[in-house]
Amino acid sequence: MTGQDEQSGRTDRTGRTGTVDATSTVDATGGLEVRDLTVRIAGRTILDRVTFTVPPGRRLGVIGASGSGKSMTALALMGLEPAGATVTGSVCLDGTELVGMPDRERARHRGSGIGMVFQEPGTALDPLRRVGAQIAEPLRLHHGLDRRTAAARAVALATEVGLPDPSSLLRQYPHQLSGGQRQRVCIAMAVAGEPAYLVADEPTTALDVTTEARILDLFERQAAGTVFVTHDLAVLARITDTAVVLDAGRVVERGSVQQLLSAPSHPATAALVSAARATARRTPGGDR
Ligand SMILES: Nc1ncnc2c1ncn2[C@@H]1O[C@H](COP(=O)(O)OP(=O)(O)O)[C@@H](O)[C@H]1O
Ligand SMILES: [Mg+2]
Repeated sequence: MTGQDEQSGRTDRTGRTGTVDATSTVDATGGLEVRDLTVRIAGRTILDRVTFTVPPGRRLGVIGASGSGKSMTALALMGLEPAGATVTGSVCLDGTELVGMPDRERARHRGSGIGMVFQEPGTALDPLRRVGAQIAEPLRLHHGLDRRTAAARAVALATEVGLPDPSSLLRQYPHQLSGGQRQRVCIAMAVAGEPAYLVADEPTTALDVTTEARILDLFERQAAGTVFVTHDLAVLARITDTAVVLDAGRVVERGSVQQLLSAPSHPATAALVSAARATARRTPGGDR
């Protein structure tokens, strides 16, 4: 193993007991195993040997300040890094290496094995197609549902993510929706096919507190192994008990959320915690 074992107070080598351990190794049961993931763009190193593991069905938080590389990590996991980026290292999904895989094959994994919620909801939506069709189509293509069943499932999902008047809203085009509604459409799209893994990049930032709570409930109900990116430590503590901290493209700390929040050992983690405390003090009603 690399140096990560030294950074962690405990090691769960099976990854099956208790909480997710960011240091656990993956055994034959699979998982999402990211090793030394490095992204360079125009000679600049954006991600530097990012390493973590998400066992099947577990959730891992990824936190860090703005610009620390959270979104790049999510994109590189999906093979959606910007054109011109060089990606090295390994992203292994249930034993299948994704880095270096031909684009077509990789796209197939994105369609069924791993779902993504982008930080920028516009990215994932086709502006020229009604949102209902965008949720339903992958269900027909990847899961063999007939048109009527897929449409019914799209309505059910829209209801689940708290979209108002789903059957008429699903007939709208993306530009007719609010940012928060678009974000929820993207969440519905990502979970529609019940992928084994989810990558969610700040999936609740455009939402009010009540809707956010509903969406976090939805993520908690998913059976998928999940990489959950957030800059919000209250959301982090709600959604998972294990996280990695990014700073300038590197994982600088990892372990239990409780430990990271109560006794941060890296200055980057400490800065996040004290910023969150200051925000909680300024906000009436405090931590949500
Ligand atoms: N398309 C791109 N080309 C070059 N640099 C980029 C690109 N996208 C992001 N970056 C850089 O990568 C770093 C990490 O960005 P990002 O992953 O978006 O941060 P975060 O999501 O943590 O706020 C930043 O320094 C950002 O400027
Ligand atoms: Mg980001």
